[in-house]
Amino acid sequence: MSSHDSHDPHAGEQAFRNRGLDIGDRVSALLAALTLDEKLGLCSGRNFWETRSVPRLGIRSMRLTDGPRGVAFHSTWRRGTAFPSGIALGASWDTDLARRHGEALGRETREAGAHVVLGPAVNLCRTPMCGRTFEYLTEDPHLNARLTVSYVRGVQGEKVAACVKHFAANNQESKRMQVSAQVSQRALRELYLPAFEAAVREGGAQAVMSAYNGVNGTKAGENEALLWDVLREEWGFEGFVVSDWFAARKATSAEACIRAGMSLAMPGRWSRYRMRDLREAVRRGRLHEEDLDRALRGLLRVMFEIGHIDEPARPRRRGISTPDSQVLAREIAAAGITMLRNEAGLLPLDASRLRKVAVLGPTARQRNCLPLWGGSAGVWPPHEITPADGIREALGRSAEIVDDPAGADAAIVCVGLSHRPGGDSEGVDRKHFDLPSAQVALIRKTAATNPNTIVILVAGGPVSMDWAEDVSSVLVAWYPGMEGGRAIADVLTGAVNPSGRLPVTFPRRLPDSPAHRSGRTFPGDGREVLYQEGVFVGYRHFDREDIAPSFPFGHGLSYSDFEYSDLQVEHARWEGEGGLGVSFSVRNRGDRDGAEVVQLYVGDPESSVPRPPRELRAFEKRFLRAGESARIRFELQVRDLAWFCESPLGWRAEPGGFEIEIGSSSRDIRLRGRFELVKDWFLAVGPTV
Ligand code: BGC
Repeated sequence: MSSHDSHDPHAGEQAFRNRGLDIGDRVSALLAALTLDEKLGLCSGRNFWETRSVPRLGIRSMRLTDGPRGVAFHSTWRRGTAFPSGIALGASWDTDLARRHGEALGRETREAGAHVVLGPAVNLCRTPMCGRTFEYLTEDPHLNARLTVSYVRGVQGEKVAACVKHFAANNQESKRMQVSAQVSQRALRELYLPAFEAAVREGGAQAVMSAYNGVNGTKAGENEALLWDVLREEWGFEGFVVSDWFAARKATSAEACIRAGMSLAMPGRWSRYRMRDLREAVRRGRLHEEDLDRALRGLLRVMFEIGHIDEPARPRRRGISTPDSQVLAREIAAAGITMLRNEAGLLPLDASRLRKVAVLGPTARQRNCLPLWGGSAGVWPPHEITPADGIREALGRSAEIVDDPAGADAAIVCVGLSHRPGGDSEGVDRKHFDLPSAQVALIRKTAATNPNTIVILVAGGPVSMDWAEDVSSVLVAWYPGMEGGRAIADVLTGAVNPSGRLPVTFPRRLPDSPAHRSGRTFPGDGREVLYQEGVFVGYRHFDREDIAPSFPFGHGLSYSDFEYSDLQVEHARWEGEGGLGVSFSVRNRGDRDGAEVVQLYVGDPESSVPRPPRELRAFEKRFLRAGESARIRFELQVRDLAWFCESPLGWRAEPGGFEIEIGSSSRDIRLRGRFELVKDWFLAVGPTV
């Protein structure tokens, strides 16, 4: 029977409905069925959160919602689960939790009747001052990539597209719509792109959001090298690129974005995609229909992949935040809480021995989960347990909760930042690296009154901590989400053994931080910001310059104590084929069950170019019962040894000696080994960005 036979229900314009065809052919059939105007219509939204429908062909609008922290109220009118913010997930170093977070978020997105969630947000934490550090995961590209892949897989397992954002080099909020990140190819490839690359190649990410900023002079949304050559040609991305909201207004033209491979400009009519202008651009040959098809292909493909074309409309349920998700939010929050200091083993608190506990400080009762609070990542959950709520719930039955530290068995001081503009908030960068002076004074005064002072820092990133040595214990809770107070109490009481590790270096002083050499390196002159530090971001810089941070990358204490032994590097001389096995033993020699984050760093001291002394290349969060040991084995690939060479463009691993370091943080190395790479490796890649 010919495909045009009138008895064939899939004939002609409806051929795309034939489920027997593969998706690529269905997309081609749909493109063939769409008129030029329908195609142009699909290139921009119908309103703030929906794509345009094509009623003639029975294609409904697809709905997008903000993440990445949970399903946002402002895009669904639903109160979703407020998970801990991205940096807390980063501090968990737990890929399994990232996957479960993704799954729960995917499920809630679907229940809210949406198809795409705008997350994860995976820009690298280049400076503590970025207003969105709280949303991002880490300063390290490997940790970033591993968590991102798991998160994306979790979301997409629920037939919801994950939209990885903001592509690329969106590392500050100041002048985010105007500024161009002037960044070397090497730094892009080694630091800023790996999480996106892994999201696409390994996670199968279905959507990518182009950033507001420019990259080396061309706006990300019209940057063909980025959106086409690297993303699609090199990494094999088959999904769609959506602009960041309103970014297309600042673009040279709508056709420049479409030509570069942007599939969808949001939001709707505010994006400056005027039908009349676009028609004219096609008529005058400034936009070819093939370019239009090329950009739309990914959008249509995702519509098929998530069942949008074949399945009935998704009902938009209420009550999307389930008890299970809330329990998960608490688990993630607890897993991310990072204990920086615990002198004389003050923690965990023994609830049965406490008569009086003082709870003080401005963040004890502060709510952080409100609509648009902090910007687009704001989630409004059905409830929020503040630190004071959680502590009262856990200790209030046996002890009296007071606000005077004098005479209390312990004084818990909750300090930090908030999502107010100028703090941890989208649209503006942070104004201060120091905590407000009143908070520092409160910490010092409390510590002078009570020797058992515990500070809980609620913040989205590093602050100066010259007060830390005055107090017994310090916990960083980040923004721990709707169940955060309970998670804090879990750690304080020892119901949970802390296992969070810093995903960012905490500098002593802001000028120690590599992006803060001058105003031109941060925040730039409004037109350009110079990434002069190149690949030396975060601990890569602190290690190279031998600067002592307040607390190093990877640091975090436990109520247990872990012992490392028996490092074995499987080849003393390696050709670079297959994988290089590295194994060692870890034992929990404490008397509590707990998880250790084992970290493997690689150093290339004989390299022909300057390289960081160590770079994280593998890690695992391993739970061990008290007294239990485990043998851990990692396998390195040759790319783990490589640096990115700019001429010719490609990954280069040079023969010579490499160092392997196994540690409990980047500055607490427990085992050292070496091997020799005996072959020169070069893995070529495409054009410059
Ligand atoms: C943010 C994105 C967000 C979008 C939609 C933009 O301002 O940069 O992260 O997804 O708005 O709210």
